[in-house]
Parts: sequence; structure tokens; C-alpha cells
Amino acid sequence: MIGRTTGRPVSITGLGSYAPERVLSNDDLARIVDTSDEWIIERTGIRERRIAAESEAMSDLALPAARQALARAGLTGRDIDLVIVATVTADMAFPATAALLSDQLGSTEAAAYDLSAGCTGFMYALAQGQAMVSSGLAERALVVGGDVLSRILDWTDRSTLVLFGDGAGAVVLEPVEEGGFLGFELGADGAGGRDLTLPGSGSRAVEPGQHEFLTMNGREVFKFATRVLVSSAEAVLEACGKTVADVDVYVPHQANVRIIDHAVRKLGFPDEKVVVNVDRYGNTSSGSIPLALADADLDGRLRAGRLVLMTGMGAGLTWGSALMEWTLDTNGASQ
Ligand code: ACO
Repeated sequence: MIGRTTGRPVSITGLGSYAPERVLSNDDLARIVDTSDEWIIERTGIRERRIAAESEAMSDLALPAARQALARAGLTGRDIDLVIVATVTADMAFPATAALLSDQLGSTEAAAYDLSAGCTGFMYALAQGQAMVSSGLAERALVVGGDVLSRILDWTDRSTLVLFGDGAGAVVLEPVEEGGFLGFELGADGAGGRDLTLPGSGSRAVEPGQHEFLTMNGREVFKFATRVLVSSAEAVLEACGKTVADVDVYVPHQANVRIIDHAVRKLGFPDEKVVVNVDRYGNTSSGSIPLALADADLDGRLRAGRLVLMTGMGAGLTWGSALMEWTLDTNGASQ
């Protein structure tokens, strides 16, 4: 699916993020499985990640992020009429985490549902929220992306354990006079779905002894990720009549520094335009892009008028890009 946005312009008018307090370093992991700080840094660029407390579920990560985003937009939960939570680690299969969050925020007039598109979930949810607000079906949407992947990892499997972390981010979407989202490109390749799965998590029966842990064919996902980060970015830029040179801030999914570096080289971005925080958070799945946006906001890179390109990819296999003209004034240190 690809297209330029039509209808009334919609933009991000509030932004918030939350990562659990507990920091787990590579050395900490080396005490749990047979790995090392050197191996993890060299192959992934990750130095540490955040891990949710036992009492924390997805809605507990979403709530502070959402409150921050609402405060930034000058709104309360009551003003919101659509809540989408993109996650593969909802509090439970039902009720939707979005419904639980709506209740906590006092969004009593809101439609609320969860969306599952792996690490691309936030991009899919942005597109849906944008379209609903642009068409007038919704007035103000809250879009949350986040995951508590530490809950579905096999803590004895070094090949996946070292890659992931927990975190969430939230944005408010509202109509604006001008600017905001220009276009989206979203896709899925179910044939590759077997390369990144959570067996036993749904209605498909599993063999006795198969546990509900994330399983991944790392090499295949690596190849897929390097390919779609480039092709999806190029596609959305072309659809919107823009080029890489027009982009001021590039926010790729934070899975692995080597995947990001590959895309940056192929697309031709200078380093100063690229947002990277995978070293501090690991891969937080649907939390990755909004957490990176929040970092770019804090360091002063997101300013009104700047062109922002985001691309995610993940389980499904899925991918998605959004191109937007940022409209929110900077919240950054350099303000
Ligand atoms: N510590 C030490 N050694 C390890 C570790 C570890 N944590 N993990 C694997 N190894 C070993 C392997 O056993 C292997 O040993 P062998 O050669 O004796 O068999 C060796 O290291 C090399 O393993 P590879 O899998 O070839 O290592 P590679 O360089 O491909 O890196 C990695 C693996 C980091 C997983 C890489 O393939 C990757 O990044 N894939 C993409 C993962 C990803 O981004 N997933 C998420 C995207 S979608 C989403 O976000 C959900």
C-alpha cells in the first residue's frame, strides 16, 4: 500500500515516551548466557537495554508515555476519540490494552483497539490514525507503540536474548493548518513470516514442549531488514515527490546498528541526520520509532518545518514508512 495523504492535513501535536527503570548491560547478560560485551557491540551496536519490572505490563509502559504526549498537546484523555496501541505483547489477548489505557486516561468517548504488525506496528498505527483523523471520522487520536519483549524471550537463547528491550512511545494526532503527514508506504510478506514467530501464542497448536518464546532466523531477518529499509524509504519519497536530500531527520527502526548503517549508506544520509538509540534501548519493537522520535525531540533535531522520514520493519514480515513535515515546536535542550 502506498499513497500520498489527501483530506485535511494531520500532524503529531504531542509526543511522549517511557522506558522501564531497570538497565541490563551486556555484561549482565554475559552472566546469564554464553555471550560477551564485545560480541554484542560488534554484531549489533547494543550496549544496554531496559527491562520491565515483574509488575509492569504493556499498559503500564503506555500510560506514562501517553500522559506525556497528551500534556505536550495541551489535551486530556477526555479529548481523545481514537486510541490505537501497536504491540505484540498486550497485557493479555483481550481486553485490548488500548481499552485498558483509555479507561486509565478517561478517554470515555474513544474507540480503542490494539494492532499487531510486529516491529512495524507503530508505522501501521500512525497510518490508520492519520487516515481516520484526516477523513474526519476521528478528531484527535492517540497512537501508542510499545512492547515488553522481555516477557516472550527465551532467557537461555543467546541468539535472541541480547537483541531486545522494553519501552513505549506515544503521539497525539490532530488536524493542522498545513504540514504534517505527506505519505505512507506499508507492506507485508507473509511467506517470510516463519522467520520471526511466537509459536504457541494463538490458535495454532504447537508440538508438546514447544514454548511460547520468540524464535528468529537472524540471518534471513537481517537480509530482509536491510532490503526493505531502503526500498520502503525510496518508495515513499518517490510517491511524495521528495528525495533523500530533502529529508532533515531519518528515523529507522532500531534493531541493529549494522542494519541501520547499511540503509544509511545505500540511501546516502549523512550521519547527523540519522537518529540512533539502539545502543541504549536495544530493539524495543513497536516502541523503537517513537522512542527514537522522543530522543530526536530532546536533542533539538525535530523542529517545525523539518522533513522527517521513518521506516520500520519486523514480524509478519512487515515494513512501513511515513514521510512528514514536522509541525511541533522543539522540546529540546537546544531550545
Ligand atoms: N553471543 C555470542 N555468540 C553468539 C551470540 C551471542 N549473543 N549469538 C549468536 N552467536 C554465535 C552463533 O552461535 C554463531 O556461532 P557459530 O559460528 O559457531 O555457529 C556466531 O555467533 C555467528 O552467528 P550469526 O547468526 O552468523 O551472527 P550474525 O553476524 O548474523 O549476527 C544477529 C546475528 C545479530 C542476530 C544478526 O543476524 C541480526 O541482527 N539479524 C537481524 C535481527 C533483527 O534485527 N531482528 C529484529 C528485526 S524485526 C523486529 O524488530 C522484531
